[in-house]
Amino acid sequence: MTQPQKGICAESNLHAQYLLLNVIDDDSQAVRAKLARVLDIFDWYENEHYEAMVTGVIAVGAGYWSELYEGLIPTELTAFPRMQCEDRSAPDTGTDLFIQIRADRLDICHAIGSEVMELLHLHVELVEQIKAFRYLDGRDLNGFIYAQDNPRGMKRRQVAIIDARQDADFAGGSYIHVQRFRHDLRRWKSLSERQQEQVMGVTREYNQPSPEQSDSSHSVRACAPGSDDGHHDLLKQGMPYGDLLIQGLFFISCAASAQPFKAMLHSQIVGNAEGDYDRWLDFTSAETGGAYFAPALTFIRQQAAS
Ligand code: HEM
Repeated sequence: MTQPQKGICAESNLHAQYLLLNVIDDDSQAVRAKLARVLDIFDWYENEHYEAMVTGVIAVGAGYWSELYEGLIPTELTAFPRMQCEDRSAPDTGTDLFIQIRADRLDICHAIGSEVMELLHLHVELVEQIKAFRYLDGRDLNGFIYAQDNPRGMKRRQVAIIDARQDADFAGGSYIHVQRFRHDLRRWKSLSERQQEQVMGVTREYNQPSPEQSDSSHSVRACAPGSDDGHHDLLKQGMPYGDLLIQGLFFISCAASAQPFKAMLHSQIVGNAEGDYDRWLDFTSAETGGAYFAPALTFIRQQAAS
């Protein structure tokens, strides 16, 4: 059995801590072994503080994969699809490792993050650490309900997890794309509710398709071209982050294929033949981006011994 990492399909939590790390030594045998011990840390906290609903994900960057796990590569793992069109861009700032820690307790996220860093500190540098949080009833900081259309139940697994027919060596794994978006909320809040709904393509209060929707609305541009129901090609696991100076969304996509994310990003940034791009990008911008692969638990544990 190839067991996926628990945090990939997990239901939403109240808190998250994201660690973006670069590996600074070439002792990949030690890193492989320590990544399996990170899983033990997740397990310990999950059992000891079961009420906190702890989940974690370890994902390995596209540029580092072949050094860590020589000879085996997930078929669709390639560098982040960086894009630029006019003033809209999706940069590639990918790191070697991305670790997602989530729980319903901020102190538990912090405790896990500290233990993970204690374990890995000889091998890595911490490029970025982001604390994210659930905002109101699951909204982005722009006021709109976020990721309510995510697949549910078994469909979650179908969308986010590779099955053996797709890629037998990497069954149980997931393609992860992350982007740290920074919002210009002052500008956003200068729009009326109707104008905001035009931009997002859904109503602010209940997330229903808005009568104001157009080809440049976010919910239209974000639909994967060519799919039957653009909703269900990726699982959105991102959360809002920020303080009183800087606010945004740490976007995370988990999928059984790397293609839907690329297609959606292109449709948002470059747009269609008529020049309709995603108007939401006039109010937020991606400051970072990275492509990763989160292998099955069994893969991480087996490779730790090799
Ligand atoms: C700051 C960044 C973003 C914010 C705040 C945001 C917010 C939203 C909101 C409020 C919705 C409608 C409600 C819902 O999620 O159920 C939505 C829909 C969606 N977003 Fe985003 N989004 C962001 C970036 C992205 C990116 C980068 C992608 C993919 C590359 C994406 C893909 C989608 C998809 C597939 C939908 C569903 C469209 C549909 O209704 O069929 N979003 N987003």
